[in-house]
Amino acid sequence: MEFPRIHIIFIVLAICLRLNAVYGRHMHHWDFFDYCAISCRAHSASLTDFGGVGDGTTSNTRAFQAAVDHLSQFESDGGSMLFVPPGKWLTGSFNITSHFTLFLHKDAVLLASQDESEYAVIQPLPSYGRGRDTEGGRYISLIFGTNLTDVVITGNNGTIDGQGEPWWDKFHKGELLYTRPYLIEIMHSENIQISNLTLVNSPSWHVHPVYCSNVIVQGLTILAPVTVPNTDGINPDSCTNTRIEDCYIVSGDDCIAVKSGWDEYGIAFGMPTKQLVIRRLTCISPFSAVIALGSEMSGGIQDVRAEDILAINSESGFGSRQRSDEEDT
Ligand SMILES: *[C@@H]1O[C@H](CO)[C@@H](O)[C@H](O)[C@H]1NC(C)=O
Ligand SMILES: *[C@@H]1O[C@H](CO)[C@@H](O)[C@H](O)[C@H]1NC(C)=O
Ligand SMILES: *[C@@H]1O[C@H](CO)[C@@H](O)[C@H](O)[C@H]1NC(C)=O
Ligand SMILES: *[C@@H]1O[C@H](CO)[C@@H](O)[C@H](O)[C@H]1NC(C)=O
Repeated sequence: MEFPRIHIIFIVLAICLRLNAVYGRHMHHWDFFDYCAISCRAHSASLTDFGGVGDGTTSNTRAFQAAVDHLSQFESDGGSMLFVPPGKWLTGSFNITSHFTLFLHKDAVLLASQDESEYAVIQPLPSYGRGRDTEGGRYISLIFGTNLTDVVITGNNGTIDGQGEPWWDKFHKGELLYTRPYLIEIMHSENIQISNLTLVNSPSWHVHPVYCSNVIVQGLTILAPVTVPNTDGINPDSCTNTRIEDCYIVSGDDCIAVKSGWDEYGIAFGMPTKQLVIRRLTCISPFSAVIALGSEMSGGIQDVRAEDILAINSESGFGSRQRSDEEDT
């Protein structure tokens, strides 16, 4: 489906989308929920308790994983919070746990390692059947969680910097063996909140909840150069009941791309994205869409509402995409 190239400059869009379903019928069932980020956890620790060093050069991969391993014992005992103090904390990928808050101080910066060996290679998503950049496996995201419940990733606007430049270069040159990592990916989980953070320069997508339900994404600033590939802002993928609000996104690709798997894999997996609300979004994406439906959406998309969307210099307000080798959102 071809969309005209429109430059929308300072137009406030108030849009209601109705796809495949009766919207009024579902609205009152969407019981949105709120989380407390700091006060609700019975146990807490600082990254420095686990040997973390915030000098921008020492690797904190082990410190993060040791902290999470330790705090995971409190899953059924009031939950836990890991505090990241001011500093520059270089780290490779680490996994998070349930009933857990990761809290970044406003002057904390997580610097993603640029060393590929710091990212385990994991299976392709079942609804995609392959990695997006390459056949076969994919590098695990910087912050990864699967089969979790009750997770909060937040801060007073602390920063997670994907340091994506070498990944973008290698992608352009076809030098990557596996699909690039995302900044945050949460799979098969429920009750997830990602809020009050600045995310910059992911190697690929920034926030990827997939096969999740009850997801809040709130108060994120997401910044990536407008010329780099596939740095989508937030990609709800085969998720139910997601609320994205108060976000400011500048991206080389779609600010928000709604997904549900690819071709026969997506159809076979059959998990739509549904009950999605997007509101108070500001988006700058000169070469892509503010909100894209697809490209991969073979599991279907139902019940999407968008309101108070400010699009500044974006190629299109809404895009519905079919994936092809040339076009890749
Ligand atoms: C994180 O979880 C993934 C998937 O379950 C696993 O492959 C990886 O080894 C884990 N990483 C660590 C450091 O435990
Ligand atoms: C995670 O949940 C999915 C879907 O319920 C299930 O297929 C998978 O086996 C679970 N993985 C683990 C490691 O428990
Ligand atoms: C968070 O930090 C970003 C980058 O410095 C800034 O643009 C944004 O206004 C800040 N957000 C809030 C709520 O302070
Ligand atoms: C995010 O920051 C805003 C403004 O400081 C605050 O009102 C809100 O409670 C914070 N949200 C969370 C989930 O901490």
